[in-house]
Amino acid sequence: MDSGKKITFPLLMSVGTAVLGSLQFGYNTGVINAPQKIIENFINNTWLERYQEPITKVSLTAIWSLSVSIFSVGGIVGSFSVGLFLNRFGRRNSMLMANILAFIASALMGFSKMAKSWEMLIVGRFVVGLYSGLSTGFVPMYVGEVSPTALRGALGTLHQLGIVIGILMAQVFGLEVIMGNDQLWPLLLAFIFIPAIVQCILLPLCPKSPRYLLINKNEESKAKAVLKKLRGTNDVSSDMQEMKEESRQMMREKKVTILELFRSPLYREPIFIAVMLQLSQQLSGINAVFYYSTLIFEKAGVQQPVYATIGAGVVNTAFTVVSLFVVERAGRRSLHLLGLLGMAGAAVLLTIALALLDQLEWMSYVSIVAIFAFVAFFEIGPGPIPWFIVAELFSQGPRPSAMAVAGFSNWTANFIVGMGFQYVQELCGPYVFIIFAVLLLLFFVFTYFKVPETKGRTFDDIAAGFRQTAGGGGEKLNPEELNSLGADSQL
Ligand code: GLC
Repeated sequence: MDSGKKITFPLLMSVGTAVLGSLQFGYNTGVINAPQKIIENFINNTWLERYQEPITKVSLTAIWSLSVSIFSVGGIVGSFSVGLFLNRFGRRNSMLMANILAFIASALMGFSKMAKSWEMLIVGRFVVGLYSGLSTGFVPMYVGEVSPTALRGALGTLHQLGIVIGILMAQVFGLEVIMGNDQLWPLLLAFIFIPAIVQCILLPLCPKSPRYLLINKNEESKAKAVLKKLRGTNDVSSDMQEMKEESRQMMREKKVTILELFRSPLYREPIFIAVMLQLSQQLSGINAVFYYSTLIFEKAGVQQPVYATIGAGVVNTAFTVVSLFVVERAGRRSLHLLGLLGMAGAAVLLTIALALLDQLEWMSYVSIVAIFAFVAFFEIGPGPIPWFIVAELFSQGPRPSAMAVAGFSNWTANFIVGMGFQYVQELCGPYVFIIFAVLLLLFFVFTYFKVPETKGRTFDDIAAGFRQTAGGGGEKLNPEELNSLGADSQL
C-alpha cells in the first residue's frame, strides 16, 4: 500500500485519543434534553426548601434555559481562546490540559444534587462548554496536522464521528431506564469524567504534532522521528519536504493575529470562506433538530417521540460513517454542495408534512422521513467538512487564529439557533423550516462559486492558491505583504 494512505497504529491511536474530546462535545450537546422534566423537579424542590415557596414558572424557565444555553456561551469563549494555548503548549499538551476543565465540570454537575445547588449545575455547564469550545479548535487542528495528505479528510471526519457518537450515547444514557431518572441524573451529567480519564492516560502516549515540532519549535529530528512512527516507514522525505516548504513560507509571514486575518488581502478570502462554511453548518438548522427533535416529533403527532429522536441519532451516526468513506473520493466541495441541497429538499418536505398534518394523519410518518433525510444529508457534508476544512485552508502561521475565528462563528450561530428557534417556531408555526431552506440555498450558491476543492492537495499548495488570487486580484499589497507572498517567484 502507498505509505501516504497507510493507517498505522500510532496514527489511529493519536486520532482516536484526540477525538475523545469531540465525543465530550457531542455528549454535552445531547445530554440535557431527555432529563429536562427530572432536573426541573430538582430545581423546584431545591427552591422550595430554600425559600419555603414553590418556584414561579418564569423563574424555572429562566433557570432551565440558562442551564441549556450557557453551554454554548462557554463554547464561544473556549473556541475563541484556542490561540492562547496552541503555540505556547503545543497541540497535544493543550488537549491534555483542557481535561482539568472536564473534571471540574463533572464534579460541579455531579454533586449539584447532593449540594442542593442548581447554581453548580449552571456553572458546570459553562465550564464543560469552555472545554468543548477548546476541543473544537484543538482536535481538528491536531488531527489535520498528524494526518497524511491523502487521508486528511477521512481522518478529519472522525472529529464529527466522535461528536455524533457522543450525541447518541447521551440520548441512550438519558433514557429513563438507564440514567435519565431521579436517582441517576447527576451521574448522567458527571459521566464525562470517564472519557477525560481515558484521554489523560492515552494522550501522553501519543506523539506531538510533527508540524508543531518542526515549524513552531524547529526540532527537526524529533519531527522526523514522530513522522516515521505515524507513517510506518523510514522514508518520510516527501512529508518533511512539504513541511519545510510551509515553514519557509511561514518565516516570511509575521505572527498572524486575528485582526490581521481580516486586514491582510492574503487571508481575507480564506477566512471569509471559513466563516461562511461554519455558518452554513449551524444556520442549516441542524441543532433545531438536535435540541428540539422530541418537541418537533411531538407536534408532528409521532407516538414515541423519544425513540424517534434516538432514531435521528442513529441516522446521524450512520451517515457520518458514509461521509468518512467517500470524502477522499468525492471531495469536500461536492459533498458539501450535495448535503446543502439535500437538506433544503428535506426542509421543504418537512414543511409540507407539518402543514398538512391536520388533514392527513399519515403525514407524521412523512415528517419522520423528512427529519431523518435532513440529518443524513447534513452528515454527508455540512456536518464534518466545515470542522476540518479550516485547518486545510490556512498554513501554519495563521492557522491558530483562523481556528479561533471559525470556532467563534460556529458557536455563536449555534447559540442563536438554540435560543431563537422556539420563539421563531411560535411565530411561524409549521413554516419555520422554510427559513432554513432559504438559508441552505444561499449557502449552496456561495459554496458553488467560492469554495475551492482541497482534496489531495498539500497545505502549502492550498495556501499558494489563495496567495495567487490575492496577488492577481488587482488589489494593492504593501511591501511586507508582497514579501510574504514570496513575491520574487511570482512576479
Ligand atoms: C456538528 C455541529 C454540532 C451538531 C452536530 C450534529 O458537529 O457542529 O453543533 O450538534 O454536528 O451532529
